[in-house]
Amino acid sequence: MSRENVLSLLLERPTEYLSGEAMSRALGISRAGVWKAIEALRQEGYEISSAPNRGYRLESAPDRVREGELAGPLAGCLVGGSLACLDTIDSTNTECKRRAMAGTPEGLVVIAEEQTGGRGRLGRSFQSPRGCGLYLSALLRPRLEPAAVTDFTAWVAVAVCDGIEAACGVRPRIKWTNDIVLNGKKLCGILTELGLESESNALEYLVPGIGINVNHRPEDFSEDVRPMATSLAQELGRPVRRSLLAAEVIKALDRMYAVFPQGKQEYLDKYRADCLTPGNQVQLITPASRQEARALAIDDDFRLVVELADGTRKALSAGEVSVRGMYGYV
Ligand code: BTN
Repeated sequence: MSRENVLSLLLERPTEYLSGEAMSRALGISRAGVWKAIEALRQEGYEISSAPNRGYRLESAPDRVREGELAGPLAGCLVGGSLACLDTIDSTNTECKRRAMAGTPEGLVVIAEEQTGGRGRLGRSFQSPRGCGLYLSALLRPRLEPAAVTDFTAWVAVAVCDGIEAACGVRPRIKWTNDIVLNGKKLCGILTELGLESESNALEYLVPGIGINVNHRPEDFSEDVRPMATSLAQELGRPVRRSLLAAEVIKALDRMYAVFPQGKQEYLDKYRADCLTPGNQVQLITPASRQEARALAIDDDFRLVVELADGTRKALSAGEVSVRGMYGYV
């Protein structure tokens, strides 16, 4: 842990030298402990220069998402107030749910460099190659009825767009219900899961999981996914620092959760502005059928209003149906 704290201090003052003594005082550890932490960070690829009588300065840092990089930017946040940055895990959602069932309080964010069993909606898998993406899940415990959180994923989608815009300067769009797209291709998927108390059916925990394609090259996607998937690096033409993106996405989630559900109008307005499904001809896909329809609007409950070929209109809820563009993924 002192390694994360030393890193956090170095990151707080990126242009300054920090003496070993000042760090040892600030962290309540010995100077030998500071030195050991510096050596361990160097072993992990952090370039830290040292100058006699001045101390240490961080010159460059590898692209790794870790507590020491996030603790400073997330100070004061409820979501991200505690962090578990893991190397490899089956699924950050599954890990968050395990910790929820063990009694961990809300606010924990689990992040992994790699998922071996990343999960998507409708039982699909989510490809999560090492070091390319941002795979994160948050543990929340809103004091609400389960029915009050049915639109939560739509709120998360808006927060993810906010976070990506803050970190990268581009605002992606939303394909109803909760795929984040950039230039017509899928950039991010969201899977929200919840746990109910078995006897009372009260909401015990809510776990939104977010998978963003960050530095993937086309060959990092499997052949079947490649035609409709993209990454921030592919679209921006430059790599994106994942810890910076993680900090902005978590801060946006924290801002959103602070106003959930009473701040609905703001998030509904943003969702409507971001969602590019209305106006398109779409296929409505259920396990049993495919039907053509025209997407018209997002209603006040984040449902997609569609008009069927016979002129009838209906409002679709997330989970009821999945929507695909007629002429491409969007
Ligand atoms: C989808 O597009 O169907 C949703 C994909 C959600 C993927 C994220 S990655 C982090 C979290 N852990 C998982 O196993 N899934 C979500």
